[in-house]
Amino acid sequence: MSVIAVPASINLAPEQFQELRDIIYSKTGIFFAENKLYLLENRLSKRIKELSMGSFEDYIAHVKTQASNTAEFHEIYNAVTINETFFFRFQPQLEAFKGLLSKLIDQREAEGDRYLKIWSAASSTGEELYTIGIILSALLGNKISEWNIDLWGTDLSHRALALANEGIYTKNSFRGAMTEIQKRLYFTELQPGRFQVNEDIRSLVKFKYLNLNDSTEIRKFSGIDYVYCRNVMIYFDEDMKKRVLRSIYGTMNHGGFFFLGEAESLHGISSSFKVEHLTGAFAYKKE
Ligand SMILES: C[S@@+](CC[C@H](N)C(=O)[O-])C[C@H]1O[C@@H](n2cnc3c(N)ncnc32)[C@H](O)[C@@H]1O
Repeated sequence: MSVIAVPASINLAPEQFQELRDIIYSKTGIFFAENKLYLLENRLSKRIKELSMGSFEDYIAHVKTQASNTAEFHEIYNAVTINETFFFRFQPQLEAFKGLLSKLIDQREAEGDRYLKIWSAASSTGEELYTIGIILSALLGNKISEWNIDLWGTDLSHRALALANEGIYTKNSFRGAMTEIQKRLYFTELQPGRFQVNEDIRSLVKFKYLNLNDSTEIRKFSGIDYVYCRNVMIYFDEDMKKRVLRSIYGTMNHGGFFFLGEAESLHGISSSFKVEHLTGAFAYKKE
């Protein structure tokens, strides 16, 4: 009779959970409530096995070691972040954005001031920023070369950023409202089911690491017209949300817009922005 070896499970004790979640919160603002012990256990035990360690005790000691510190934190961020995203997510809001963008383009054309700055502040694997690039490219057409365009995508997860830079996607990323025509226009099928964003759109965007818990880094951004900060603040507690909002507000142009995910709101978090009701969605305006 053959015996199948079952890998020993690595358990996270409540006090270790407290210690790890406090470390993660202080570094990233991501808050794990008590009921997330098993989630953290599951996500980090994979990493512990990769390191051929046997327990969370060893792992916590490893994380605290100065020498391996920074690199290991990035492994933790890769492991604990939820990078769920897809092209053309929350279509009514994107339609409303297109309307706003089109007006701003006309206004800047008229003023001879052809620049745009858009920031996807938790860009994950890139689908959100490429969607913005596609919308912008369709609006500007051949005139795009006359414009000075900054499309920034930033995220905490280096793993997500690497995928964003590669710009290669499969079925899951295409479950939003993208049409077949858009897919044919803006992507190249490398192998069956694997599509890469075309160079003309890839050349419009830039991705880089940015931790939203780091206000000093956020303040390096300025003159932003539109901020996409969708489906990330759900992982933060109220204090962190307020800090992020304050810093991002400072980076934006007057008249600029801030977008949240479909189920999110700034109610009780910030009163600096004015709620702007658009067709099918709303956005927050910096007046
Ligand atoms: C669910 S995805 C949202 C992606 C995209 N904005 C969307 O709505 O489709 C959340 C992203 O937030 C990032 N994130 C979480 N905490 C962060 C932080 N402190 N700083 C920057 N990015 C963070 C995660 O790495 C993840 O890629």
